Amino acid sequence: MQTFLVTGGVGFIGSNFILKARKEKWANIINLDKLTYASNPDTLAQLQDDPGYHFVRGDIGDIELLRNLLEQHQPDAIINFAAESHVDRSILSPQDFIQTNVVGTFQLLEASKAYWEKLSLQKREQFRFLHVSTDEVYGSLSPTDPAFREDTPYAPNSPYAASKAGSDHLVRAYYHTYGLPTLTTNCSNNYGPRQFPEKLIPLIILNALNGKPLPIYGDGQNVRDWLYVEDHCDAIYLVLQQSRLGETYNIGGNNEQTNLTVVEKICAILDELAPKSNFRYSSLITYVKDRPGHDRRYAIDCSKISRDLNWQPKENFDSGLLKTIQWYLENSTWIEQVQSGTYQTWIEQNYKDRKLARSH
Ligand code: NAD
Ligand code: DAU
Repeated sequence: MQTFLVTGGVGFIGSNFILKARKEKWANIINLDKLTYASNPDTLAQLQDDPGYHFVRGDIGDIELLRNLLEQHQPDAIINFAAESHVDRSILSPQDFIQTNVVGTFQLLEASKAYWEKLSLQKREQFRFLHVSTDEVYGSLSPTDPAFREDTPYAPNSPYAASKAGSDHLVRAYYHTYGLPTLTTNCSNNYGPRQFPEKLIPLIILNALNGKPLPIYGDGQNVRDWLYVEDHCDAIYLVLQQSRLGETYNIGGNNEQTNLTVVEKICAILDELAPKSNFRYSSLITYVKDRPGHDRRYAIDCSKISRDLNWQPKENFDSGLLKTIQWYLENSTWIEQVQSGTYQTWIEQNYKDRKLARSH
């Protein structure tokens, strides 16, 4: 069986990828994660007795650690999920985004190149470096613009998007200049189990269950394309197995929704699964001050991955959202763990100056 070095594998998408990789016997996994605020070590507790899973706490910017890890475990592929990933945090404090997303990815590329150059010819040909990126690098669309394609020019608007764009450019350069066998995926908004509740969907689920306001930035008409996280993981594995070297693939759910619609759908499901006798969840919807520079619309044209690799999302939004909400209802211990400590400080910081504009 192959060995993958996964970075950021205790986070939302990385942990879902690792659980799937072990369940479906894709590969043995070495998981390198710094364990920032966005991770809960218990997320992968079910793998603690799995001999095909090995966790290392560390930073993708630590080149010595990377050299040793690569030397010791001789991975067949590296999949780079590690990043600072929340747009609002990047607006309040961009420094960590530059450090991890740009400098960290650079160090990971350097270590990977040094490792790859020393491999036997056969292993060199099989090796892959897959960089997990985002549709936010393409900027913002008007309601009538065509969806983002792989050749849409980059136009990042937030410090987060700019730092991801920087890392994408470095990955591209390492392929073109040094021949490092890289692949890049640019995906739309993921949702599903184990997402940290700073992001819209889990934040709304947990606020609703606690009877707190459901904050909608601006007019609630910003549009995102939503993809169930397991569909994203399948797409990454397919690209890893079948793509030509140096390619980039857009991945999306063909599922554009306004934020207000997403929140209303969550409220409707909660009215069924966890009804309150004295109110409906939608009465908690509250409009708040907009995110600075808030991108209006993202949409993904994923015809390339569909045509080249025969990938299509399997989950539809209603069934995926239901599964997601059920997961949060059934995993109160995980929720308590991530909501302790610095989480409360963040919520206070992000929402304190967003004066409540009007209720629904
Ligand atoms: P996340 O914030 O949930 O998890 C990130 C993980 O990376 C955490 O476990 C964290 O501890 C780890 N990490 C952070 N800095 C690190 C460092 N310097 N060294 C090692 N580990 C570090 O993020 P996510 O939502 O799972 O996103 C994973 C990747 O997918 C990111 O690169 C993100 O840009 C990209 N992406 C996310 C989405 C989405 O909707 N969540 C969509 C498209 C692309
Ligand atoms: O498009 C892919 C990106 O999706 C990923 O690259 C990012 O890592 C991921 O965080 C996500 O970015 P967004 O900014 O789109 O996600 P977020 O969940 O923060 O917000 C989704 C939308 O909901 C966005 O238009 C802002 C809005 N929002 C968000 C929060 C947290 C609100 O209206 N209220 C909120 O409280």
